[in-house]
Amino acid sequence: MIELIKVLIVDDITSTLDNLQKLLSFEPDIQVVGTAVNGKEGVEQAKKLAPDIVLMDVNMPIMDGIQATETLAQEVSSSPVIIMSVQGERDYLRRAMQSGAREFLIKPFSGDELIASIRRVYQLEQKKESFLAKTTSGAAPAAVVPAPDGEHGRRAEHGQVFFFYSGKGGVGKSLIAANLAVSMANETKGKVALVDLDLQFGDIGVLLNLDHSQGITDLIENIDHMDADFIREIMVDGPAGVKVLLTPISPELADLVTVDHVRRIFSELRKIFDYIIVDSSAHLGEINLEVLDHADKVVVVTSLSIPAIKNTKLALKIFDSLSISPDRVVLLLNKSDAHSEFNKESVEANLRFPIAGQIPNDPKLVINSINRGNPFVTTHPESEISQRIRELVGKLMPAPAAAPAPEAAEKKARKGLFARR
Ligand SMILES: Nc1ncnc2c1ncn2[C@@H]1O[C@H](COP(=O)(O)OP(=O)(O)OP(=O)(O)O)[C@@H](O)[C@H]1O
Ligand SMILES: [Mg+2]
Repeated sequence: MIELIKVLIVDDITSTLDNLQKLLSFEPDIQVVGTAVNGKEGVEQAKKLAPDIVLMDVNMPIMDGIQATETLAQEVSSSPVIIMSVQGERDYLRRAMQSGAREFLIKPFSGDELIASIRRVYQLEQKKESFLAKTTSGAAPAAVVPAPDGEHGRRAEHGQVFFFYSGKGGVGKSLIAANLAVSMANETKGKVALVDLDLQFGDIGVLLNLDHSQGITDLIENIDHMDADFIREIMVDGPAGVKVLLTPISPELADLVTVDHVRRIFSELRKIFDYIIVDSSAHLGEINLEVLDHADKVVVVTSLSIPAIKNTKLALKIFDSLSISPDRVVLLLNKSDAHSEFNKESVEANLRFPIAGQIPNDPKLVINSINRGNPFVTTHPESEISQRIRELVGKLMPAPAAAPAPEAAEKKARKGLFARR
């Protein structure tokens, strides 16, 4: 029996609703289970019908599609949203993706595009669910791959992966990740890679004023012939010898990057570099989950605002359910001295998680640094913000222990996907 993909359509134009319904009725594996004419009704229907996919228009009365998507992401997270928008500008799409939408379709789109998008999002959701089921079952992970011969006790030879994440966009992940990479190269003299995994709208190229003529998609085009030389060729030279793997040169190419590509790329990067700093988007899709699960440290960036704190709380909860040990999580408070009714202590109390580092608010220096594409740790190494970044470098360095760290043992029990082959 075919498994039906249950779809809810939300659009205030009734003729659009009718057309979409008709179009989807020809697909044997898709069933439209309901319709709604504004965001509020869409949320109510989604709660009632638990659809597999919600098709969401943007401009609607009462509650718009972005707001409805944000609500659904929080309250009905098992119903992923595909946004249908007439606006194609970067900022707009960015807002749509930040609201938690899985995909967006620019109107007018073809029936084939719509159907492919529905099936893709559905399949990804299924995979994510089985991934979550595996990692939250409490039992030992089912797919434990034994460590390759000779790997035992040689973990120090592997590059360390530091994954930057925040449940909320715009809190300063990219800025801190870029400056941290440069500072790490200066302080440790190790080989440092910076990987921009905010695949659609990554900012690392702009922040470091890099020539963005190639990126990760150039690597995956030749993934079967990928070796250290090829990787170095595709990575762009950043300040202080940092090698940067940039995003695809255009956002729509981001879809070409699969979990398997990312797994293989990281496996190689670990062999070439001592430290691999990864910037990400807030979206917890398959790729982020994969890197997150295998990172040596997850640096969670938050700030003194209710949305940032709320989303950090949610992110920490998800990490917990993914069995990510709190030892691996480094919580950073950015703009820690910004004027706010909150402070470090109240954030810690609310999150029930200790803040490991604080980065001050320095709008003048930061804006200057961004506009010129020069990291502030290079131009103003003695500023307080640069000093805090240097401290962070120290905190992320693995402890020089003779015996393998407990974390290493924990990771061995995991799938070891990034391990040396
Ligand atoms: N410590 C700081 N002091 C002053 N301004 C800051 C600081 N950190 C971040 N900003 C400001 O916040 C903006 C957003 O930072 P950034 O792009 O690094 O966030 P992000 O978390 O990567 O966002 P996104 O999720 O959209 O990628 C920056 O452009 C900068 O203007
Ligand atoms: Mg960013």
